[in-house]
Amino acid sequence: MPVLVEQDPSLVDQLLVGMPPGSQAVGTSERGLAWLDQHADEYVVAFGPSVDFAVALATAEDLRIKRPTVSVVLVRDQYDTDLLTRAMHAGVRDVVVAADQKSLTGAIERAHQLHQALRGPGGARQLGRIVTVFSPKGGVGKTTSSVNLALALTDGGARKVCLVDLDLAFGDVAITMQLFPTHSIEQAVGAEDSIDLGMIEGLLTRAQDSLVVLAAPAHPDVRERITPLLISRILRTLRDGFDYIVVDTSPSFDDATLTALDETDECVIIATLDVPTLKNVKVALETMDMLNIARGHRHLLLNRADDEVGISVEKVESILSMPVSAQVATAVDIAAATNAGTPIITHKPGHAASIAYAQLAASVTGEPVSTPQSRTTDQADHTRSRGLFRRGRN
Ligand SMILES: Nc1ncnc2c1ncn2[C@@H]1O[C@H](COP(=O)(O)OP(=O)(O)OP(=O)(O)O)[C@@H](O)[C@H]1O
Ligand SMILES: [Mg+2]
Repeated sequence: MPVLVEQDPSLVDQLLVGMPPGSQAVGTSERGLAWLDQHADEYVVAFGPSVDFAVALATAEDLRIKRPTVSVVLVRDQYDTDLLTRAMHAGVRDVVVAADQKSLTGAIERAHQLHQALRGPGGARQLGRIVTVFSPKGGVGKTTSSVNLALALTDGGARKVCLVDLDLAFGDVAITMQLFPTHSIEQAVGAEDSIDLGMIEGLLTRAQDSLVVLAAPAHPDVRERITPLLISRILRTLRDGFDYIVVDTSPSFDDATLTALDETDECVIIATLDVPTLKNVKVALETMDMLNIARGHRHLLLNRADDEVGISVEKVESILSMPVSAQVATAVDIAAATNAGTPIITHKPGHAASIAYAQLAASVTGEPVSTPQSRTTDQADHTRSRGLFRRGRN
């Protein structure tokens, strides 16, 4: 249902008359964005006269790329050609005068038609979501977790997932999955202005039917030539072709990681049960707070969460002020599966670690946990419901 951003109650009453029944009003553009986050099928946001022009333009510009199926309608007390030109350049679809409710109704109707057309026939296709796997510490299991999470997110082939290796100097997603890429992100260098999905598809390596990998360059020095603009354009383009884009990162806030975090919808943070890592994760979380990254969309994975090290899960949750979404114990099977080129979630789907990765995927998607066993049961039952696992012991 359309959403109106306007803080003046009398204007809200006046404008809602020109909008479809059930339209919602919020007081600030932040709340408008939060509304859009929660309503993947929204098609229009109208900014009332009290919303600052610059804020409305910046939001329109952002939505034009991130949510092209959402139209922005600007409602002003009056406007001139200069305002109209600037609004159109920012991607605002319509500008209407507050007193003219008919124009507002027409603008909302056009937004709805455009939304239907962009979705295509019967198309409920939504833009893919970017999931960045991050930890400020090296060797804590980022790559292992990214690979298993990406596999879990495919939901047995029901979703299309692309795993992007943004550890540009020392990426090892390909080797972890025993893939031999003929192309990598390196072949996109310099193509900032000409990226499209077809071009990126030519650089992907197929891991499984529904999982592909965009590999890191084979040589560390290529990293210097991969610009943040290239990375953000690649990630945005991948949203059009995949349900989830999982990004493996290097253990620092380097340019590539920061760009991914800037684009990210969901962030998986990996911690282990040792004081230096927990301290660094805490600092990283504070930095993310400062940069306003993925607030409310963070998922904590405790890797090597073994009982005997003297730090409990509860202690971690209190130090980091966030709940643990999933925990994976140290298990030789995990490293062995990786070494054999078959990640544990594929090799041993019933293993506690595999169930934990499925839990992490469920935390990311907000859907019930789906494991290979539960899918088999589903198929037998001929239902769409999925098996439920509560937070298990690992
Ligand atoms: N829970 C676990 N139990 C046993 N081994 C593990 C576990 N998690 C990760 N490993 C192993 O630890 C090693 C490092 O893991 P991984 O490469 O995933 O870490 P990383 O954070 O990506 O490292 P880097 O910072 O170098 O990119 C690998 O050999 C992996 O198999
Ligand atoms: Mg790694």
